[in-house]
Amino acid sequence: MEQHSLSAKVYQASTAFPEHWKVSCAEEVNGVAFPHLIIDNFFTTEEFNQIRQREADVKDKEIKIAHSLIRKNGEVKSDVFDAPFLTGVDRKYRPPLLAMLGVLSKKKTSLYEFSDFHLISTGPDYEHAIHDDIPKKLLSVVIYINPEQNNGTFIHDGRYTKEPVGEIEWKQNRAFVFSRLDRKTLHSYAANKVDNRFCVVYNLNTYKAFKAHWAEGNFLKFLEKGLKYE
Ligand SMILES: [Fe+2]
Repeated sequence: MEQHSLSAKVYQASTAFPEHWKVSCAEEVNGVAFPHLIIDNFFTTEEFNQIRQREADVKDKEIKIAHSLIRKNGEVKSDVFDAPFLTGVDRKYRPPLLAMLGVLSKKKTSLYEFSDFHLISTGPDYEHAIHDDIPKKLLSVVIYINPEQNNGTFIHDGRYTKEPVGEIEWKQNRAFVFSRLDRKTLHSYAANKVDNRFCVVYNLNTYKAFKAHWAEGNFLKFLEKGLKYE
């Protein structure tokens, strides 16, 4: 029914979104199921400029990650940012991102415990293998920062199908948002062989992966991981 469609749910959640966000959504990419949202104009100009100057120098095939973490209670840890910047970002963007998680995977929202806010700098020839994201990632959010043009994120219909079915296109200050599903949300990324590629990964996470498996309906994995409490 129409009122249960992804776009209807996003519309209902949109009261929680910052005014500068331009949000769109889709259930699939070229016929392959992959529910996701796109947020253009994710950061304010001031935030974007603060972030873009933190890009690391990398060699052709290299990846460098600057880590930051924001806990549910507001505690922050960071290799690169001062605490006020991160707490400001968290206060502003965590509620609307949780609202998006509610749209994509409602049962996962109560599992939220911390956010990553990592800066990922990769060289022109760096390639990241096809994967579905680890279960502790409740909501995966990548925001493309530098340069003006590059490859975005490739979408795949199999772990060993190297040729992508489509691509979430790169645009500066665009966020690609999804909630991982076991063996389904298969994606990869690689720069364009010419330029470095710099983005922010701002994931909402839990420490209890087995509960995330339960929320997804992966009951065998829930049992397997739950026994080990991981
Ligand atoms: Fe990923």
